[in-house]
Amino acid sequence: MADRIAEEKIDEVRQAVDIVEIIGDYVQLKKQGRNYFGLCPFHGENSPSFSVSPDKQIFHCFGCGAGGNVFSFLMDIEGISFQEAAVKLAAKVNIDLDLNLSSVHTERKASKEIQAMLDAHELLRKFYHHLLVNTKEGQHALEYLLERGFTHESIDKFQIGYSLNSWDFVVKFLSKRDYPPEWMEKAGIIIKREKDGTYFDRFRDRIMFPILDRHGNTIAFSGRSLGAGEPKYLNSPETAIFHKSKTLYNFHQAKTSIKKLHQAVLFEGFADVIAADRAGVENGIATMGTALTDDHIAILRQNADTITICYDSDNAGIEAAYRAGNLLTEAGFQLKVAVMPDGLDPDEYIKLYGPEKFQKEVIGASHTWMGFKFLYFRRGKNLNNEGDRLSYIEEIIKEISKLSKAVERDHYLRQLASEFSLSLDALEQQQKQIYFAEKKNAASGHTPVTHKPIIIQKPAKELKPAFHKAERCLIAHMLRSRDVAYKVQELLQGNGFNMDEHQAIFTYLLGFYEDHLESGPSAFLSYIQDENLRRTVADIEMMSINDEVSNQELMDYIKQVLNYKKLLKIKEKEVEQKEAERQNDILKAVALGTEIMQLRKSL
Ligand code: UTP
Ligand code: MN
Repeated sequence: MADRIAEEKIDEVRQAVDIVEIIGDYVQLKKQGRNYFGLCPFHGENSPSFSVSPDKQIFHCFGCGAGGNVFSFLMDIEGISFQEAAVKLAAKVNIDLDLNLSSVHTERKASKEIQAMLDAHELLRKFYHHLLVNTKEGQHALEYLLERGFTHESIDKFQIGYSLNSWDFVVKFLSKRDYPPEWMEKAGIIIKREKDGTYFDRFRDRIMFPILDRHGNTIAFSGRSLGAGEPKYLNSPETAIFHKSKTLYNFHQAKTSIKKLHQAVLFEGFADVIAADRAGVENGIATMGTALTDDHIAILRQNADTITICYDSDNAGIEAAYRAGNLLTEAGFQLKVAVMPDGLDPDEYIKLYGPEKFQKEVIGASHTWMGFKFLYFRRGKNLNNEGDRLSYIEEIIKEISKLSKAVERDHYLRQLASEFSLSLDALEQQQKQIYFAEKKNAASGHTPVTHKPIIIQKPAKELKPAFHKAERCLIAHMLRSRDVAYKVQELLQGNGFNMDEHQAIFTYLLGFYEDHLESGPSAFLSYIQDENLRRTVADIEMMSINDEVSNQELMDYIKQVLNYKKLLKIKEKEVEQKEAERQNDILKAVALGTEIMQLRKSL
């Protein structure tokens, strides 16, 4: 066997692997034209400048200049040698390199010490799990878990275990297997006594949650006390193989689902991740009881574009969700926030209300980030009190000013206006004022100045005629369903909507349906060129309507639309009738009178 890989073997591997597939394991790639694009894994970025060419089998980042072929990609991202990369790739495509593998291992950066740490963790993970599920010593721990709603299935899936109530069981267990105690201390598994240099077990009589890295290696443990013992969760310390700030609990298993859905659900605790998994939410992850770091965000950014935050609904959880949310939106994620009632955490909620309710009413009913902020700033305020109300409104307007899309700003300003019966104009003015003030401050580095208080005006709601609402409801349903759009067209029998704006949207929409097989709100929005119409459409999209619309309902709306036309006609005839009476044209006046009567009847 050779110590070096033959040149022809390298070529064979190069031709057999597909760079898109290999890189796709690390970076979420989207096809655009001939190439694939994604967020560069070698530097932090919010918009994709990393491209992969399947034709040329190379990658390149316009942002940081990284680039190369499939070999150099693996070397850079895994920090491995050329030979190791070749071995990995060859294994993927079942090519025998005819290589003396031990020569590869001598090149490995990972020292024997690191390997021993990993091996010991692996061994202990299995052992702890065995103690929990198969032994009398672990029975009380197993009963505790089952009582809490954990299932046998999830205990296996998450490899949960139990550590014995002993000071030196693990010390002996590992030294019998020739693991040097100094290394095991560095691995955080055992602790050295100051006074006599002997060692004792770190984890005793605890439920053991193994922490895995993204390759599935066990790198740490978190042990939960069974009773009221402090701390509730005892974690491995920082070691050469375990860095809290880079570790996401369950990422290893959740990754497939995260990639598929382009979404991850972020929880606060392990118990929540496991309960959610049982409830069918398989893309759940958690930090190690610490705040979210840039490293966590970078890992997520490579795999998802939407994050749902699902933290405890107590005060601490809501504050943490607000902080994490700000970091995540800054990093360019689409954000949702799932909120539970009554200070519950996800695990408790699932136990109380079951998986379906959790899926539907918590995860499925997540707030938008802005929607969450409406709730966040409201906490602790009495909105019947004018001072509280004003400061709430101002905080919300500040948040609205941060939104980059005009349609969104408009939507939330309207929401605010209607909630507090404020004039939209005044809110818009205030919002612009805040926007420019913040911009000026940012430019000059000053702390924010206080703004002029909002002048609360009398409600500026115009009284809209009934047809206005009816037309909007019809459009809302037509936006959701092509069939409804055609049906409305038919029912209108050649008549149009009364509002010019609505008629324009109607015309556009029918055109859009003619041209496009696929539809969807954002596709239609980008189809409309006119900014004002777009706003109206976005506004209508946000209306809450039933999913289904009955024929009767449609007929009622249409009737209101058509009635308005008749009312106009009646007005017109009445004017003519008056004029006829004035000119003593009795016959004409009578004829008009009959017409008016018939029109009234048809309403
Ligand atoms: P929580 O106190 O919310 O616990 O801590 P939990 O997830 O609801 O756990 P159960 O249901 O009581 O078993 C959330 C996370 O904070 C970290 C852990 O990662 C935990 O999952 N934590 C908490 C610690 O690291 N140490 C502690 O003492 C407590
Ligand atoms: Mn809990």
